[in-house]
Amino acid sequence: MVNTADKQDKQELRPGVKAPAKETLLTPRFYTTDFDEMAKMDISVNEDELRAILEEFRADYNQKHFIRDEEFNQSWEHLDPETRRLFVEFLERSCTAEFSGFLLYKELGRRLKHSNPLLAECFTLMSRDEARHAGFLNKAMSDFNLSLDLGFLTKSRKYTFFKPKYIFYATYLSEKIGYWRYITIYRHLEKHPEHRIYPLFRFFENWCQDENRHGDFFDAIMQAQPYVITGLISRLWCRFFLLAVFATMYLNDVQRSGFYEALGLDAREYDQYVIQKTNQTAGRVFPTILDVENPNFFNRLEVCVKNNEKLSEIANSDAPRVVKFFRKLPHYVSNGWQFLNLYLQKAVDAQAKRGSLY
Ligand SMILES: [Fe+2]
Ligand SMILES: [Fe+2]
Repeated sequence: MVNTADKQDKQELRPGVKAPAKETLLTPRFYTTDFDEMAKMDISVNEDELRAILEEFRADYNQKHFIRDEEFNQSWEHLDPETRRLFVEFLERSCTAEFSGFLLYKELGRRLKHSNPLLAECFTLMSRDEARHAGFLNKAMSDFNLSLDLGFLTKSRKYTFFKPKYIFYATYLSEKIGYWRYITIYRHLEKHPEHRIYPLFRFFENWCQDENRHGDFFDAIMQAQPYVITGLISRLWCRFFLLAVFATMYLNDVQRSGFYEALGLDAREYDQYVIQKTNQTAGRVFPTILDVENPNFFNRLEVCVKNNEKLSEIANSDAPRVVKFFRKLPHYVSNGWQFLNLYLQKAVDAQAKRGSLY
């Protein structure tokens, strides 16, 4: 018998292999960059720190961490269909994001091998970590009789091109936000083990240390390329990336609040905490960070949440396309207006607060 959850989950490429979720503005992205520009990078001003990070990567603290124990050997049929659907979606999104990191780092490791062996080895070792993370998540999906065809995903997804400078902002933030997301869930479930619906979360403590080290690597790269974190243009880009990353996560997670509820978490509180922490962390290297303490910040994101609810209501209605378009328009305009206001909101001068050179 196929239950409703199975029907919802199984938009399959082949039996047991899930078709990738539809790409939208809010789905995890795959990146590519200018490899020649990256290869020519002079990192000498911060080489000692980068060498120290490489030694940490070589130490491979999590070599034996991602091994499934007997707690995985049980049936998950008791999860109600909606929790199961949300959980599988969480696994898929996380696996895609980890895999996207793997692909980018692996390619960078390969292309920089001769021109910049130090960076190349760092990227290769980070791709090792991301492959473990993605593999562990994909194996978790198989507990729900599904898996992602990562080879198919590699070929079928669109790649977003970013120049190295933008790759640094985006990957630094995604590593640090990943760290705060995993550690926050881990600490919460440590206090409330009754909500630990699946053993995967037990692995998050050491796992998030990988992400933290990856983030530190990008921090060190940016310090080695001071042009990335100095001057007005860099400040504007840092603000843009902070806002893009925070808003995307908030809109995604609030939309999936049922998943966080299943873990005994409030999606909004969880996201607000993760955003505040990531913003503070970014203040160690970015010249400017966002004023997320200003109540306007989350109030405006809430307006976007409402707009998105309306937009999907309209999209799912039976109205003719042209009618749908005109009904959607004011919500798109409102979203644009909120983002513009958030972007122009007075930022925090992190560089001045640190009193550092960069
Ligand atoms: Fe990862
Ligand atoms: Fe990572």
